[in-house]
Amino acid sequence: MQINQNSNATTQLVDRFGRRVEYIRLSVTDRCDFRCVYCMAEEMQFLPRSEVLSLEELYFVARAFVELGVNKIRLTGGEPLVRRGILTLVEQLGQLPAELLITTNGSQLAGMAADLKRLGVDRLNISLDSLQEDKFKRLTRTGRLSQVLAGIDAAIAAGFKRIKLNAVVLKGRNDDEVLDLIAFARTKGLDITFIEEMPLGAITEHDRAEVYCSSDELLQMIMPVYPLIDSADKTGGPSHYYRMSDSDSRVGFISPHSHNFCSECNRVRMTVEGRLLLCLGNEHSMDLRQVIRDHPGDIEVLKQHLIRAMDLKPEQHYFDLDDETPQIVRFMNMTGG
Ligand code: GTP
Ligand code: 5AD
Ligand code: SF4
Repeated sequence: MQINQNSNATTQLVDRFGRRVEYIRLSVTDRCDFRCVYCMAEEMQFLPRSEVLSLEELYFVARAFVELGVNKIRLTGGEPLVRRGILTLVEQLGQLPAELLITTNGSQLAGMAADLKRLGVDRLNISLDSLQEDKFKRLTRTGRLSQVLAGIDAAIAAGFKRIKLNAVVLKGRNDDEVLDLIAFARTKGLDITFIEEMPLGAITEHDRAEVYCSSDELLQMIMPVYPLIDSADKTGGPSHYYRMSDSDSRVGFISPHSHNFCSECNRVRMTVEGRLLLCLGNEHSMDLRQVIRDHPGDIEVLKQHLIRAMDLKPEQHYFDLDDETPQIVRFMNMTGG
């Protein structure tokens, strides 16, 4: 359900640094039909079903967050749309007084976009790192570009507005496609955000320090072709947006290395095991599965725990690309970013 971002409802979730948490990212599965090289190892062990929260439990957690003043719920994965029964959850969440958003790899959208729109999803962010079939395959290992492009078209046809493409840019892999990706976004009327890769989980396919590509390098590449105009636009996430004088599309940058945004952090995330993570780049967490299974149906107990968990939220992330063994051993598919 779309709500006014300036609504008067104030969140009861405030951390030790005075940051107000108004945004929950719920991972609904760790599974995915892709194996993106920056996100996963080629061979992955996924969680056994017994470890995973049920759809009812996921809804219960979302409801507790909303009752505490959270106004933005984003479903992530893995790939959220491969979770069995996801539309049932979407339908319930769509009725809560909070924005409902999904970050997806787009593979299932051709068949699901219309239902998602009908059930109350407000906005979609769709990952797209390359417009070349062979390169797309190399980056996603198992993905098919044509399927994702069909998904993007289906989302547009379903009436979604302000769809945002997400591209993780790796030097020597897809940095040569940045201008093509912007041209594509402009043609389709979409926003696009370029993301600096973060060191979560031990990957083998590339050396993260070697392929690092800063947002400033991208800006220098883009400016002569598309003169970007700095803007104060906000979508509630960490992206810094620029506009273009001849297009409605926005170009954003998520720069965890070069422009730290932690002081403005307004979000927490939960893995599908029910582990509340207070920061993407730290391990501070609370086991909510234990709380909800020890106190079935008791939303007040859960809310008290959420309020207390805010004290665990660390001040910022410390990512070191030169560190050969990443500090964060969990892969990105546990949190969906
Ligand atoms: P909008 O609502 O459109 O602003 O979306 P968003 O940028 O919040 O969500 P999305 O799922 O599109 O995330 C894009 C990228 O931002 C992903 O790679 C996330 O990992 C990254 N990201 C989101 N929140 C954080 C954060 O708190 N810290 C860090 N380091 N990265 C984040
Ligand atoms: N660093 C930065 N972004 C990542 N994503 C997945 N893994 C990483 C990583 N290691 C992005 C995906 C998707 C979003 C959920 O997170 O491309 O857009
Ligand atoms: Fe799947 Fe997204 Fe990870 Fe790619 S980045 S493997 S699409 S969860």
